[in-house]
Amino acid sequence: MLYSLIRPALFSLDAEDAHGLTLAGLDVAERLGLLGMLPQGRGKPVQVMGIDFPNAVGLAAGMDKDGAHLKGLAALGFGFLEIGTVTPRPQPGNPKPRLFRLPPAEGIINRMGFNNLGADKLVRNVGASGYKGVLGINIGKNKDTPNERAADDYLACLDKVYPHAHYVTVNISSPNTQNLRELQKDEALDALLSQIKSRQAELAQRHGRYVPVALKIAPDLDDAQIAAIAALLMRHGIDAVIATNTTIARDAVAGLPNANESGGLSGAPVREASTRVVRTLAQHLGGALPIIGVGGILSGDDARDKIAAGASLVQIYSGLIYRGPALVRECVERLAQ
Ligand SMILES: Cc1cc2nc3c(=O)[nH]c(=O)nc-3n(C[C@H](O)[C@H](O)[C@H](O)COP(=O)(O)O)c2cc1C
Repeated sequence: MLYSLIRPALFSLDAEDAHGLTLAGLDVAERLGLLGMLPQGRGKPVQVMGIDFPNAVGLAAGMDKDGAHLKGLAALGFGFLEIGTVTPRPQPGNPKPRLFRLPPAEGIINRMGFNNLGADKLVRNVGASGYKGVLGINIGKNKDTPNERAADDYLACLDKVYPHAHYVTVNISSPNTQNLRELQKDEALDALLSQIKSRQAELAQRHGRYVPVALKIAPDLDDAQIAAIAALLMRHGIDAVIATNTTIARDAVAGLPNANESGGLSGAPVREASTRVVRTLAQHLGGALPIIGVGGILSGDDARDKIAAGASLVQIYSGLIYRGPALVRECVERLAQ
């Protein structure tokens, strides 16, 4: 209700300025204790990847790249937060403007390009936050690291974030880092997953705690590619799969202002493609590992559809921009029914 009053003002600003302002406002509200007054949904706890989640609705990666707003975001009622994508070294991302709204389609196009302050800063932020809820940390590679050495970046991030995460997401599906999605292909993925798994085993020994690893994939995959990825996930014993990232397709928004901006499209226009990937994965995985469904959730029913397609948890990003914090509660309550 309140958000519908604020939204026109936010939408009159540049999209990235509005994003920064919203997160800053959230931090202030949290510090003043105002967020405790937000009505919380009565969630149904779930256990996934061996982790206890107070409810199945999470924040998707990319909104809090550096883990700098954990307490404020948690107060919105999420069952878990995923921060990142973080890279080993800080990097500025792509030149602005790099974030665009497509209100008639309830979509967003971004080409942020993994702007982040680096893994060391993220870890310090998490430590300082006092956040005690379920935390996923999403890792990627620096722009100037060639794909042949991508594994080094993922392993460097894994080493750093492992002790601070409940689960770690390996992001190979952003369209905004050149050739990153090539890592989804058979041989490259096989090699990457085997290195990640062996490092995970070493880290589990060193820290005396097993931290699950999830792989995040794109919606722009055909059935054969999804089947190949599912087979590799099972063969390597990956703990979960997150479906999906943003799409490079534009059919759903053709002709709209900003539709020709390069980058990844999210929100309502990616909903069906994401759900198709969830459903196809579920067929191939047969319950061998859990699926986290993300893409175009703008209502409680959308969240329910992802679960019906085979997801065990869901995540939201663009829906928050269009619907505001009330969406979290709506999804939490819908999934508890
Ligand atoms: C501005 C923006 C930045 C994003 N940054 C990341 C990121 O750094 N890492 C990542 O894995 N996904 C990122 N995503 C993708 C989201 O996590 C999510 O997978 C995608 O947007 C689909 O969900 P949605 O329709 O609810 O937004 C980003 C999305 C947006 C809109």
